[in-house]
Amino acid sequence: MPTSGFQYRDRTFYCEDVSLDHIAERFGTPCYVYSAAAIATNYDSYGDALAGLPHDVYYAVKANGSLGILSLLARRGAGFDIVSGGELFRVLKAGGDPARVVFSGVGKTVSEMEYALRSGIGSFNCESEGEVVVLNETAGRFNAQPVVALRVNPDINADTHPYIATGLRDHKFGIPFETAERIYTESARFPNLRFEGVSCHIGSQIFDTNVFYEALDKVLALVAKLRDAGVAVRQLDLGGGLGIAYRPEETTPSISGYAAGLVRALRGKDLRLMIEPGRSIVGQAGVLLTRVVYRKPAESKQFFIVDAAMNDLIRPALYQSHHEIVPVAQRDAEMVMADVVGPVCETGDFLARDRLMPAVDPGELLAICTAGAYGFVQASNYNGRPRAAEVLVEGATVRLIRERETYDDLVRGESPLGATEPVS
Ligand code: LLP
Repeated sequence: MPTSGFQYRDRTFYCEDVSLDHIAERFGTPCYVYSAAAIATNYDSYGDALAGLPHDVYYAVKANGSLGILSLLARRGAGFDIVSGGELFRVLKAGGDPARVVFSGVGKTVSEMEYALRSGIGSFNCESEGEVVVLNETAGRFNAQPVVALRVNPDINADTHPYIATGLRDHKFGIPFETAERIYTESARFPNLRFEGVSCHIGSQIFDTNVFYEALDKVLALVAKLRDAGVAVRQLDLGGGLGIAYRPEETTPSISGYAAGLVRALRGKDLRLMIEPGRSIVGQAGVLLTRVVYRKPAESKQFFIVDAAMNDLIRPALYQSHHEIVPVAQRDAEMVMADVVGPVCETGDFLARDRLMPAVDPGELLAICTAGAYGFVQASNYNGRPRAAEVLVEGATVRLIRERETYDDLVRGESPLGATEPVS
């Protein structure tokens, strides 16, 4: 089963020591359920395996930015990789240490830079010369001298979904090596920035760890060149991207195996390693719990219409991704060919397609597995649907970390006629 922290006990699906039917009873459906132990174990695996190197693990907030999850990781000492002012706000609300925040992303605005500088974040990963110019000016106005890494593009093709591969020359991400080299060597043009790092991120949901080592080799060659040219590079950020199994027949790449390879490659290189894992920390530690509303037979298959939809979990619709779906109560049901679909008015609103699975009846609960990463964070209110609740389980304790939205939440900030604004 591609989950961690979840298992059957007496034919009922549990998260740690709490049954999912209890959670549905108490908090309703659809509901995201996370295992604190699984998140902590995954996070700790990185730190344990990297212990031999100076390093920092910056959890990628975009994978799951709920305050309860961020606070859990902050308490374990995580740093945070953010891509917006909103994510920084979340990290600070959750008690994260601003000094251990790295700001990535291709489109930082001046006001986001100002907010980050005011908050005293650790460093910026810059993705274009234009951004470097603007950050230098902004830092000057703040009398700040932030640490900067250029995100370089190693031109490596990672075998993953095209929407989440980022390491090729024609992707919007990163700076080609030659341009980066020129910017580093002209750093005197940017007196308010300290160019101490190099960063790279080649994509997400990557299974073959060799491509990370290939990217690392290329970046290390660049670091050596820069050092020869007198640039004092101290830190190397290798981004995130380690994949996880979504199907029972797949094997999740081991975090410690991946990290051990990084330790080997970086030993004696006098560099602080930063990594930005997201999915591999939270992905398998969460499920989306949903209830079957109707069962609708079609010619060649059944439709199980559930109360979760593409607005709750868009990954199947957007990336054709597979999520195992299991009944919360196991019984000896016949196996049928089914689509698990939501109520949203789009044919693309499916959570599973042509899936051989046990026949379930209205009222039964299903767990959509491996939904801890890029699940709730990509949820929307499409079709007037309040966003789901989220709960964090720790042993036998259940914490509601996000209330289900209400209809009032759906219209917050709106007014039927709008406030009048004089034009000029
Ligand atoms: N660092 C940077 C600069 C990134 O762009 C990303 C992910 C990460 C770290 C974290 O990567 P991870 O360890 O989670 O693979 N919505 C898509 C995934 C988008 C990933 C975007 N960047 C999905 O549902 O599969």
